[in-house]
Amino acid sequence: MKTLLFLGLSLLVALAVPSAEGKVFDRCELARLMKEQGMDGFVGRKVADWVCLAKHESDYRTDAVNDNGSSRDYGIFQINSQYWCDDGKTPGSKNACHISCYKLLDDNISDDIQCAKKIAQEARGLSPWVAWNRYCRGKDLSSYVKGCF
Ligand SMILES: *[C@@H]1O[C@H](CO)[C@@H](O)[C@H](O)[C@H]1NC(C)=O
Ligand SMILES: *[C@@H]1O[C@H](CO)[C@@H](O)[C@H](O)[C@H]1NC(C)=O
Repeated sequence: MKTLLFLGLSLLVALAVPSAEGKVFDRCELARLMKEQGMDGFVGRKVADWVCLAKHESDYRTDAVNDNGSSRDYGIFQINSQYWCDDGKTPGSKNACHISCYKLLDDNISDDIQCAKKIAQEARGLSPWVAWNRYCRGKDLSSYVKGCF
């Protein structure tokens, strides 16, 4: 009886949650969206580089947040609150993408992609992303887009 009640309540809660929640992207869904939004060839990098980056930064989770003490990284690309977005609790934030960090956690990653491109453009590459340097740079990345196109 308690279990049934719990199930019922859980279902109600699940139904009541607005759609502006985070999601976990499927690898190929992400690859296709990235291509659609002009990431292939941007700063001379392939979609596979961006998919690999997202895999190792957030494991494709749009709601990923990591705190490093003085600032936080948000979303599928782990965009930092010191330089790029505003989370209201990072003193001296530059907010160069003119966006709330919390907007980077929802299931619409168009704004994340815009900001990631800005970061890549300023750096002329993907080197600002520690995970890309470590896991993707110079590697065979074909498995990240295998079967997607
Ligand atoms: C936290 O991240 C910011 C931005 O990437 C960096 O400037 C700062 O040195 C980092 N702090 C620590 C304690 O790692
Ligand atoms: C995602 O957000 C952008 C603005 O950042 C908007 O133009 C677009 O229509 C949204 N896409 C969906 C599927 O809601």
